[in-house]
Amino acid sequence: MKKIDFCCTALSLLDLNRVSQRLKIKRLGGKFHYFAELGSTNVHAWALAEQGAAEGEVIIAEMQTQGRGRLGRRWESPPAVNLYFSVILRPRLTTADAPQITLMAGVALAETIDAFIEQRPVIKWPNDILVDGRKLAGVLSEAACNSEHIDHVILGIGLNLNYRAVSMPPEIRERATSVADLTGNNVDRESVLVRLIHNLDRCYGELEDYGFEALQPRWDAYFGLRGRRVRIENQEQVLVGRAQGIDRTGALMIEDDRGELQNVYAGDVIPLES
Ligand code: BTN
Repeated sequence: MKKIDFCCTALSLLDLNRVSQRLKIKRLGGKFHYFAELGSTNVHAWALAEQGAAEGEVIIAEMQTQGRGRLGRRWESPPAVNLYFSVILRPRLTTADAPQITLMAGVALAETIDAFIEQRPVIKWPNDILVDGRKLAGVLSEAACNSEHIDHVILGIGLNLNYRAVSMPPEIRERATSVADLTGNNVDRESVLVRLIHNLDRCYGELEDYGFEALQPRWDAYFGLRGRRVRIENQEQVLVGRAQGIDRTGALMIEDDRGELQNVYAGDVIPLES
């Protein structure tokens, strides 16, 4: 394994044995693959899943050299300050329900973050967690499926914890935030990881056992754009209207300027001044 060598700076690294001992569940987080450095935990998790890795295995890295965000964007992944991990899931869901995994992760993330900061985190459909309009966390889920069944989903999560705005590249400094910037103090990354995996395990269980209906009230409570005028851009269209919430498949419902309800399944949501 590669060592992290950062100019004599003492970095506090994750101890996954300690994390495992604190985990009271074994469905998710039963096995960790820990890396000091990785291109992308999602890419590595995908390869392991293709080789038959079990549900719940977690691939986690102190830093990523090619951290991936949605829509081909880059995810800034500096060493030993944040969480970057991917969970291998083999859900008992149909392919049509696969987007609900991302929404489920949004609930688990929001509930976790809520416990560490004073402000209320907000979900920006489909997968961003924002505080005060700045991005704190993101989810990248990638599924291997046929028209009906899912073989596996790689649920990748990036959560900014001790990443100070002064260290962020200028292009994200105005748009991103971290728990440390919000509270003024560094947070114990292992405690956040333990709580997040517990919450993911619980929410994932609810999704599989009772369907997304069981999570939707909590998703709705964190949804920050209800009634807001938004612009949605995707490969097919640019749509402007008022966000109404999500339907049971997880599609974003927009009331367009003609008063018609449109369902959006993918894209980037840009809040507009009302
Ligand atoms: C987004 O908001 O655009 C999604 C960001 C997802 C980033 C995480 S970090 C761990 C995992 N590995 C990646 O390469 N991406 C995800």
